[in-house]
Amino acid sequence: MKVLVIGGGGREHAIVQALSESKYQPEIYCAPGNAGIASLASCVSIGAMDFEGLKSFALEQQIDLTIVGMDDPLVGGIVDVFREAGLRIFGPDKRAAILEGSKAFAKELMMKYDIPCAASRTFSEPEEAMIYLHEVSYPVVLKADGLALGKGVLICNTAQEAHDGIDQIMIQRTFGDAGKQIVIEEYLQGREVSVLTFVDGHSYRIMGSAQDHKRIGDGDTGLNTGGMGTFSPSPFYTEEIDRICHETVYQRTVDAMRKEDRPFKGVIFFGLMLTEDGPKVLEFNARFGDPEAQVLLPRMRSDLIDAVNACIDGTLDQADVSFDDRAAVCVVLASDGYPVSYEKGKIIRGLEYFDQAKDQYCFHAGTISVAGEVVTNGGRVLGVTAVADSLTEAREQAYKAAEQVKFDGKYLRHDIGKSIEEST
Ligand code: AMP
Ligand code: GLY
Repeated sequence: MKVLVIGGGGREHAIVQALSESKYQPEIYCAPGNAGIASLASCVSIGAMDFEGLKSFALEQQIDLTIVGMDDPLVGGIVDVFREAGLRIFGPDKRAAILEGSKAFAKELMMKYDIPCAASRTFSEPEEAMIYLHEVSYPVVLKADGLALGKGVLICNTAQEAHDGIDQIMIQRTFGDAGKQIVIEEYLQGREVSVLTFVDGHSYRIMGSAQDHKRIGDGDTGLNTGGMGTFSPSPFYTEEIDRICHETVYQRTVDAMRKEDRPFKGVIFFGLMLTEDGPKVLEFNARFGDPEAQVLLPRMRSDLIDAVNACIDGTLDQADVSFDDRAAVCVVLASDGYPVSYEKGKIIRGLEYFDQAKDQYCFHAGTISVAGEVVTNGGRVLGVTAVADSLTEAREQAYKAAEQVKFDGKYLRHDIGKSIEEST
């Protein structure tokens, strides 16, 4: 069996790692991949948005299954292109990926099907959006409608800030066409939890909960990043909250998409805010999270290929989808200066530590091989994950393992999962 993974970050390394443990012993390809992925898969230098190039490669190599890690190709319709060519591919088609691709669509869906979320209004004219600012209370949340590399959400404390935000998103078009429409929504208070699910168009199976740490600095300070670390499961995602979400969020979302004639097959990542009034949906993603995949997939006990095939075939209710009860913590090692500017090309040492280590993984995000050395090639360089009996233990082990890896300008947060200890 030949499997192709599309993407080249830590999430895709975690997917490739899970595939390498499959009972089907697939031959793995990854486009474009990275230096870590190259130890488990053949990396092919075709960009994730080069649909024709990827399709030709999959046809020539007779790839049996393609798994898309990233949001851009999904929202752009890669699944449709592959399906039309008779290729088997995991992920939502273009009509379904709009769940992530348009925040205005997601909000409309939630209102229509009574899925709990923040009160909001959508505008396509900046003048109207600015007039609406007189009616809202502060802080208020502005969201560019489309994909904006996770940067299209602004939390504004004053009317002036919100005015400037609308100007940036809709007039300056800082996020390009993503700013054609804007969602202005109520600011919710609470703890954030992500829940990832496999979805087959009709039913869903929960992978588990996780919590990201988006800010660059300890204590959630400084600029937003792609994610500096994560842990799973979240102790804040209690049985009671799980029960409420099964009733009001998950099945309703899957059913809503089917009723809209946009049946969703793939991964739905529910970004939730646990408010005093119960859990509310902040966002949907149409794929595994990054770095959430780096803590959820190492906890997966059943075969990833079985789960993926069940989603494609609509047989998820009969599939074996099971996860380890143990906990996982992932600490991201970044390049100093990220997310603004940073140097690349620094030699990474200590990676051999992970060759023998049990329940410890070093997922590569921004790395490349140059003259036999693995060197840094991005802002987020590595994700060090440890799985252990408790979150506290997993955290200790992840930090111990993170110390083994060395490169010039290595930067990490020291408090990933610390909130767990505060809560217990
Ligand atoms: P999103 O891409 O919609 O998840 O937004 C990115 C981040 O902005 C979230 O992870 C939250 O931290 C924050 N956020 C989004 N919507 C709200 C809201 N309505 N209230 C408070 N924070 C929010
Ligand atoms: N960690 C958030 C995301 O993958 O969108």
